[in-house]
Amino acid sequence: MKAARHEKEWGRVVGPVAGILILLAAVLLAASLCSAASGPAVPSIFKPESTPADSIYGLSLLVLAVTGIIFVIVFSLLAYVVTKFRKRASDGPEPPQVYGSNQIEIAWTVIPVLIVLVLFMATARVIHAIQDARKPDGAIEVTAIGHQFWWEFRYPTLGIVTANELHVPVSDPSHPTPTFLKLHSADTDHSFWVPRLAGKTDLIPNRVNKKKPAQSSDAVNEGRRIFETTACINCHTVSGTVADGRFGPDLTHLMSRDTIASGAAPNTPENLQTWIQEPDAIKPGSLMPAMKLNDHDLNALTAYLETLR
Ligand code: HEC
Repeated sequence: MKAARHEKEWGRVVGPVAGILILLAAVLLAASLCSAASGPAVPSIFKPESTPADSIYGLSLLVLAVTGIIFVIVFSLLAYVVTKFRKRASDGPEPPQVYGSNQIEIAWTVIPVLIVLVLFMATARVIHAIQDARKPDGAIEVTAIGHQFWWEFRYPTLGIVTANELHVPVSDPSHPTPTFLKLHSADTDHSFWVPRLAGKTDLIPNRVNKKKPAQSSDAVNEGRRIFETTACINCHTVSGTVADGRFGPDLTHLMSRDTIASGAAPNTPENLQTWIQEPDAIKPGSLMPAMKLNDHDLNALTAYLETLR
């Protein structure tokens, strides 16, 4: 009889504890799934590819370790106290109260202060090292310009202008080819953040470069004519043509980009056509108008765009 009541009481405690543990497990599972789904579109601070990203990664591991240990200790103590000292039928009105233990109060003041101090100093050191880094000699200069809502990338020394995909050379210690980014904004507040390269600052990232060969045909020439006689040229630049618009992204190297519209869709002929006919279908609120071309013109135009490498 007594054993049965004991069991029931346990059930009342175990229920919520199990609930919390299941919730925690679900959160961890979701987090690991997120980090496992690693396409080019999933930026992760856990795969650093450059010097600043590496120091940020090291710092985040330290912070995660410290806060993780605190979490485990606090949660275990809490679970222990809640189960061990739960209210029982045999309990009196109120247990004896403890006041004014100097040792305990000093301990729970000093320990957190020390922890915060360590985290503060480690963070300050990383921020200082990253923000005060000066432009290295022989660095490739890239100017990133934020627009609503896409990025323009200019390589002044190389004479290249492109959009939305930043390409930088891989640097190795024996042959350093650092990249230095200058950040500007044309018409909107942007945070420039490539988590695998650096924090939200202008710095020294390293990444792979790629290039593809060019081609030409009748459809392409026809497409180019359509492009050059349509409003496209008022908003877009293609170097070597009459198109010198500045409102939209420079299309000179359009095909070197894996995605269009700042990653809103993969750069495929179908998506290009959808984009030209109805940009809102891919990115609601974009500042490019729906061009509504007929099928023939659209196909020729796409064939031309496909040559812009
Ligand atoms: C009124 C200005 C305007 C006109 C006209 C215009 N565009 Fe655009 N276009 C834009 C803007 C702005 C964007 C960037 C939109 C965004 O990503 O939010 C854009 C984006 C694009 C992109 C995607 C580029 C990339 O790298 O993401 C392509 C391709 C494109 N336009 C092709 C065309 C073609 C072809 C025409 C003519 C048939 C045309 N545009 C006419 C303003 C214009």
